[in-house]
Amino acid sequence: MCKKALPNLFFHGGDYFPEQWLSYPEILKKDFELIPYAKMNTVTIGMFAWSCLEHAEGEFDFAWLDDVFERVEAINGYIILGTPSAARPAWLAQKYPEVLRVNENRQKLLFGGRHNHCYTSPIYRAKVREINIKLAERYKDRKSLLMWHVSNEYGGECHCEQCQTAFRKWLKEKYQTLENLNNAWWGCFWSHWYTDWTQIESPSPIGEIMNHGLNLDWKRFVTAQTINFYQCEIEPLREITPNIPVTTNFMAREENMLPYEGLDYQKFGQHVDIVSWDCYPTWHNNVESTADIASKVAFMDDLFRSIKQKPFFLMESTPSRVNWREVNKAKRPGVHLLTSLQHIAHGSNSNLYFQIRQSRGASEKFHGSVLRNDNNTDNRIFKEVQYVGEILDRISHLTATFRKSEIAIIYDFENNWAINDAQGFSMKRKKYAETVQEHYRVFWNNDFPVDIISSEDNLDNYRLVIAPMLYMINDSTMQRFTDYVKSGGILVSTYLSGLVDEYDLTHMGIWTDEMKDLFGIELLENDTYYINEFNTIEYQNQVFQTKDYHSLVKLINAKTLGVYGKDFYAGSSSVTENLFGKGRTYFIGARTDIDFLNKFYKDIIDHLGVTQNFVVKGDEDVSVQLRYDNVKSYYFVMNFSEVEKTIEVVKMSYDIICDELCGNEIVLKPYEVKILKVDK
Ligand code: GLA
Ligand code: ZN
Repeated sequence: MCKKALPNLFFHGGDYFPEQWLSYPEILKKDFELIPYAKMNTVTIGMFAWSCLEHAEGEFDFAWLDDVFERVEAINGYIILGTPSAARPAWLAQKYPEVLRVNENRQKLLFGGRHNHCYTSPIYRAKVREINIKLAERYKDRKSLLMWHVSNEYGGECHCEQCQTAFRKWLKEKYQTLENLNNAWWGCFWSHWYTDWTQIESPSPIGEIMNHGLNLDWKRFVTAQTINFYQCEIEPLREITPNIPVTTNFMAREENMLPYEGLDYQKFGQHVDIVSWDCYPTWHNNVESTADIASKVAFMDDLFRSIKQKPFFLMESTPSRVNWREVNKAKRPGVHLLTSLQHIAHGSNSNLYFQIRQSRGASEKFHGSVLRNDNNTDNRIFKEVQYVGEILDRISHLTATFRKSEIAIIYDFENNWAINDAQGFSMKRKKYAETVQEHYRVFWNNDFPVDIISSEDNLDNYRLVIAPMLYMINDSTMQRFTDYVKSGGILVSTYLSGLVDEYDLTHMGIWTDEMKDLFGIELLENDTYYINEFNTIEYQNQVFQTKDYHSLVKLINAKTLGVYGKDFYAGSSSVTENLFGKGRTYFIGARTDIDFLNKFYKDIIDHLGVTQNFVVKGDEDVSVQLRYDNVKSYYFVMNFSEVEKTIEVVKMSYDIICDELCGNEIVLKPYEVKILKVDK
């Protein structure tokens, strides 16, 4: 792992594609007048430049890239250097067709798009290695070289014969014998007992997609093989530039601010020096409030921060709008500063864009950019970017601050695969990620910092751990849950939890004995409702609506906190509490709305004595997030609403954006953000 510390400043800039402008010298010249003028200090280059770096096999041309390095250094800027593996040149695909993917229908893909390469192909690996070596050798001593940006948004799968062989090898290493594999995949079902490793094929709509053990292992393999490809990419970088940190940009699902499902980032994140991600929320959409979206962005930031418990990088965001949604709406005035500082508040040490200069042709020409091709700077977008740069300069001392949380919520990538694949319950309304985000929302509304961790993470430093819908619990997680609660921790679980092991096999009862002991209940049945069917929970003399899922439980040692109001299980326990060791566990048996979660978690937090310390009277649309060091606390106070808001805080503070002292009442204009400095 690399040892070099990054300079103490926030990196502001973004994806820059000079290769698109090599025959426009006046544009390149203008870029380097306008980049510093926009208060940007960083460019990310090279991700899609392979055909410009190697025009034909072995014919390299680095002159234009040398020139970019010169220009960046002349403005004292930084370069995040991309490796070009995400988009290969046409000559390469033509000469070595094995580098192109085969899809799940076993169709060979044509040259085109990007991210269209086989991760297993030895030729592709060799070609990538060769160009990565050239880049590293050439630029290793450049003072501007800040970081490696390896490939771009790794994703997707390849089902070619080479990948099938690699998959079988991976399975052999995991299971050792076919018998073990057949048992783990429940091979006698539908006559699926394999008698030779070569009979195993990756999941396919024209073959097998109903074997959940196979599906799960394939997804694990895709992550492992992608990491393996990445490791092959970074091997020469580590050798030649051991001090340059390495990252690759992770992403969220395109349609919404939910975790991407193609790769297990909690595993992948262990192999990068700095976690970075690309964030494109649908601000100002027609179904959610600004606060709804902000809470989801906060969740994603906390997830990426928690992977390494270190500051992360926001690698891409748009200065205004994207171009690939059905509706591509611009951020309203003021929202750019607000949303940029939100990432910083949650632990980002950068604010980078896609893209610095607008493209002229192909699919991204209408995507938001900092620079327009008429070089006009007297426009709202440019000015808002410039202002973000000004503020980031002003707060550069905050790069040394961080966050800490006593509360963790588990979102687990493997669990997401397993529960979504489960045939049962409601096929389309599992909503695992959405449910985890809803539990998170309660804490976001109340300004409590939360870590988003995997089921494999250490729990020792938390006072409260929440594991909604953790369908798949392996023995080691069960042991860690048990130890954590025994030594005083508080653990919350819900419906659809603890039903299968890591092979997606059910237990020899509904729950294991360990699960029954820990929660002090026995799970009798899971009942699923149609849309628009409801039950109720009576909890602390209030009645809350429930929907979708209802667990029927029998008490062993636990006590009842809430009971169902209707149906054949009316009067039976729906919410329970169990004292266990020095700690306690809670079980929420049904899916509720957020009103119940608000009440439930408020009781737990009051009981725990976890306090927010700063906000006396907050507002659900105003998010307060803390970064601090040994001497000072910095509260980012963000109004995610279209109206003026007032909150009350406990201490006097200094507003470092407006340069003024603040009293106990903080008034925020629509979309306003303040950073309040408080002595500790
Ligand atoms: C992704 C890619 C970028 C660009 C943007 C557009 O995040 O990494 O290259 O295509 O989307 O929003
Ligand atoms: Zn392949």
